[in-house]
Amino acid sequence: MATPTPKPALFQPIQIGDVQLRHRVVLAPSTRFRSSEAGVPSPIMAEYYAQRASVPGTLLIAEPAFIAQKAGGYKHLPGIWDEEHIRAWKQITDAVHAKGSFVFLQIWALGRCAYVEHLAPGDPFVSSLAKVLTTPIHRSGPPRPPDVPRAMTVPEIREYAQLFGEVAANAVKAGFDGVEQLRERHPDLAYLHVIEDPSVGAGGHDFIREIWGPRPLISAGGYSDDRESGFRAVEEKGDLIAYSRAFIANPDLPCRLLHDIPLTKGDGSKYYTYGSTDPAGYTDYAFHFASLKREVTV
Ligand SMILES: Cc1cc2nc3c(=O)[nH]c(=O)nc-3n(C[C@H](O)[C@H](O)[C@H](O)COP(=O)(O)O)c2cc1C
Repeated sequence: MATPTPKPALFQPIQIGDVQLRHRVVLAPSTRFRSSEAGVPSPIMAEYYAQRASVPGTLLIAEPAFIAQKAGGYKHLPGIWDEEHIRAWKQITDAVHAKGSFVFLQIWALGRCAYVEHLAPGDPFVSSLAKVLTTPIHRSGPPRPPDVPRAMTVPEIREYAQLFGEVAANAVKAGFDGVEQLRERHPDLAYLHVIEDPSVGAGGHDFIREIWGPRPLISAGGYSDDRESGFRAVEEKGDLIAYSRAFIANPDLPCRLLHDIPLTKGDGSKYYTYGSTDPAGYTDYAFHFASLKREVTV
């Protein structure tokens, strides 16, 4: 009898915090601008995440949610600061759990990246420093001088730190399995998540692996462009691999990677579709095994 081929390291199970994953293909946090103007996640977002949770035992890192209205500054991005947000996120976490998968939430404050015109009247345009954004990638409309943020005061920084803690508790209420945020000296972090510059090649953050290992490290950055690179990185380093563009366009990505099924290329013009509930370029990407849409195991 032939010896079964062992599964690649990318498909070896791993424990992250309290959850047991069946493989190491992770959905990278990816802003998609599908929430209401008030930052309430829309029902189509539950379908989107449920699709990407369709292989049981998958870890999704949901798109970031604002810690407070004043920490925002893009319309149609979600929040997690009030009950309406919590209720809407609960629909999403329930849908993911129903598939046997897990979801963490990224939480953030936009700082100098905010559109000043999207801040509520009276909310200050603040950041860590009075420094303008050097890469205004999302700016549109006629050219105008850059907006200069005010540096936050120490009491404001303390207030934001407290808000991060409060909304982390909201995320737990909303059913998330964990929260992704930047913190110093935090021994109970479930994992570290780094974006590696593909031009440097995997390993640009090896110094972090040396400090953090053998605890779980999620690496993102360019793995969507080179199918073999994720397999290689996990064989060599034991990481988890987060995919954004490949997971956006392939809701069954873990299954496709394992079974060597060609990947669909996504439509970049639909990544950011402000307030849209149109499935096009969002929830209409095909499953390879359409008949197995409900349960595809790896
Ligand atoms: C549409 C889109 C939105 C993204 N939004 C975020 C975000 O809100 N937070 C974040 O940490 N990274 C964000 N990223 C970066 C991804 O998480 C990921 O690190 C990066 O795209 C590299 O992965 P890839 O090569 O698989 O696309 C975004 C990427 C894309 C394509």
